[in-house]
Amino acid sequence: MEIQHIVSGFSPKLSSAPSIPIGKQLFSLKFPSLFSSSSSYPSIQSQNFEEVPSISIGKKDEFYSSRRRRVRCSSSSSNTAADRNKGNEVAGRRRRRRKKLAVFVSGGGSNFKSIHEASKRGSLHGDIVVLVTNKSECGGAEYARSHSIPVIVFPKPKAESDGLSPHDLVATLRRFEVDFILLAGYLKLIPAELIRAYERSIFNIHPSLLPAFGGKGCYGMKVHKAVIASGARFSGPTIHFVDEHYDTGRILAQRVVPVLANDTAEELAARVLREEHQLYVEVAEALCEDRIVWRKDGVPLIQSKENPNKTY
Ligand code: GRF
Repeated sequence: MEIQHIVSGFSPKLSSAPSIPIGKQLFSLKFPSLFSSSSSYPSIQSQNFEEVPSISIGKKDEFYSSRRRRVRCSSSSSNTAADRNKGNEVAGRRRRRRKKLAVFVSGGGSNFKSIHEASKRGSLHGDIVVLVTNKSECGGAEYARSHSIPVIVFPKPKAESDGLSPHDLVATLRRFEVDFILLAGYLKLIPAELIRAYERSIFNIHPSLLPAFGGKGCYGMKVHKAVIASGARFSGPTIHFVDEHYDTGRILAQRVVPVLANDTAEELAARVLREEHQLYVEVAEALCEDRIVWRKDGVPLIQSKENPNKTY
């Protein structure tokens, strides 16, 4: 289990320019590249393509406003072809806009780094605009500072004045105009307020094939030890939507790696992590290109970049 949530109130939607109320500017630290360039293992879903209606995900208030806009257009006598073209242009511009990402980490942040590198090299149509961590000195936070990415401390550490309340966190992410939140090894509670404010826009990566080996207390090396002890022959990362329970949000993507007969937990963890780096980048690319669609039964799928009629 990598995440959980607590209950609190609602948040304001702020549109002012980003400001960083907290976060120490510390020293820089360079990291070597920790990830491989190509995947050697299959993606579970890529075998079965099927057609589904396309429904873009987004923040709750965006859904509501777009629905209102549609109703107004359909009841208006001035719904000319020109109006419709203008509407399409606006929608197209919104789709082409680079998305703004917040990444949450507690440790080394190798997934964070791989996503950041994808953004820098241009494969990802989005930017990491802020890093959130509960450990202001962790490797991920150091990397962020050395790349001029603002660092937010959340939750507020005990006995320290540094850090944000859940309400402040949501307000701050709104100020940064964050579109999507990517949890990457963040081990603290995610406030319900944040879940509500970013409905269907928060993702987590877990190092096993959920729903197996997930849930409360199942995190880090414990996951890989449990996989090996179970005798499972395959493992691999899962990326899922975040809901209010442990590792139960809808599964969006998975990748399979073999569990070898003499594997140690560390060896298996390294094999899974190599796949995580690629899978999270692929999912982030799909997010930033509005390529997430929903099957009628509520299962999220990714639209193929090459053929939008195909999903996996
Ligand atoms: C990964 O194994 C991920 O699945 C889990 O936490 C770990 C984070 O690793 N949620 P890193 O900090 O990205 O290297």
